[in-house]
Amino acid sequence: MLRTVQLLLLALPTWSMVNNADLIWFDDDGKPQNYFARQPYPEGFNQTSKLVVNQKFPLLWEVKFEFFDNLEELVIDDCGVNDVLPGTFKDLQPLANLSLALNNIKAVKEGVFNFVRVKNLNLEHNRIQVVSPRAFDNMPHLERIVLDFNELRRWSGEWFFNCSRLATVSITHNFLEELPPKAFRNFWLGVEQVSFYFSYNKIDRIDREAFAGSGNFGDLFLDWNDVPRVDGHTFGKLTSVEHLNLNGDSLRCLSEEFINGVLNKTRLVSVLENPLKCDCLKELKKRQGSVRAEVVYSPEQTVDC
Ligand SMILES: *[C@@H]1O[C@H](CO)[C@@H](O)[C@H](O)[C@H]1NC(C)=O
Ligand SMILES: *[C@@H]1O[C@H](CO)[C@@H](O)[C@H](O)[C@H]1NC(C)=O
Ligand SMILES: *[C@@H]1O[C@H](CO)[C@@H](O)[C@H](O)[C@H]1NC(C)=O
Ligand SMILES: *[C@@H]1O[C@H](CO)[C@@H](O)[C@H](O)[C@H]1NC(C)=O
Repeated sequence: MLRTVQLLLLALPTWSMVNNADLIWFDDDGKPQNYFARQPYPEGFNQTSKLVVNQKFPLLWEVKFEFFDNLEELVIDDCGVNDVLPGTFKDLQPLANLSLALNNIKAVKEGVFNFVRVKNLNLEHNRIQVVSPRAFDNMPHLERIVLDFNELRRWSGEWFFNCSRLATVSITHNFLEELPPKAFRNFWLGVEQVSFYFSYNKIDRIDREAFAGSGNFGDLFLDWNDVPRVDGHTFGKLTSVEHLNLNGDSLRCLSEEFINGVLNKTRLVSVLENPLKCDCLKELKKRQGSVRAEVVYSPEQTVDC
């Protein structure tokens, strides 16, 4: 009893939400039930597989989740969280999903997520501008992280050290400007293929060594950025890509080196909505049969050619 009372008190609730409950938990039949702080525990409460926090918490810290043995999903969405202190999630059992979406988190500090045993971490729709270089190190169960709709300007190749099962990283709708050297050096430790979604950023620079040491990509999405060209040397460092998505970029041509060196390493390349030049398109069409990749471009791109 004491522990759950703490859970709610230590997190400094300020005002309550629509239905007034502090927590929503799910009974044996999967039906949502309300829990109010300081009430006795209802039957089955401590065995719930899913908890939805239903309070406003500007500052999240010292929450005692060890109490919930069967917890698979913890949802702290839209709770007005501005900051999460290190150690908050340290008692979580192996947990499938942790979601902190739709809050006001501005920085991800070291110590909040390190060693947390979660598979899916959702941080979308916050205001994250800063991720400490070690913030996501040593998350041994992490398979998928979503950082969409934040305010990050910088991607770092140092992130995700020793996250050996990480296979999906989504960081769409941020303000990333560049892929730095060895941007993917910490991946492919324990998985064959990793997918990255960089869609809707402002990437206009891809370092010549960005893909150095990278492994097999599933999806590599760089669409709706401002990628001006696909340099044969830079992209030549790729091992393989299932789907290279460059829709909505600023490509005027695919270089000879790219066509020769990269198209055979990809299954599908999308270049819809790029200002491709006519002679480049013609060359591309001519080569289509002799490279492995299928190249998808907008029909209207060929109209004037
Ligand atoms: C869960 O709560 C019940 C009372 O509702 C208690 O009998 C049981 O021991 C608790 N289980 C655990 C694992 O704490
Ligand atoms: C966890 O999230 C994933 C992906 O969003 C979803 O497919 C899965 O059903 C969720 N698992 C649980 C236990 O909630
Ligand atoms: C990586 O994580 C594993 C646990 O998942 C740990 O045993 C190992 O020491 C870590 N390696 C490094 C270099 O920190
Ligand atoms: C690309 O692959 C095709 C077979 O799919 C092969 O005929 C061609 O020689 C390869 N091109 C290069 C540059 O490796």
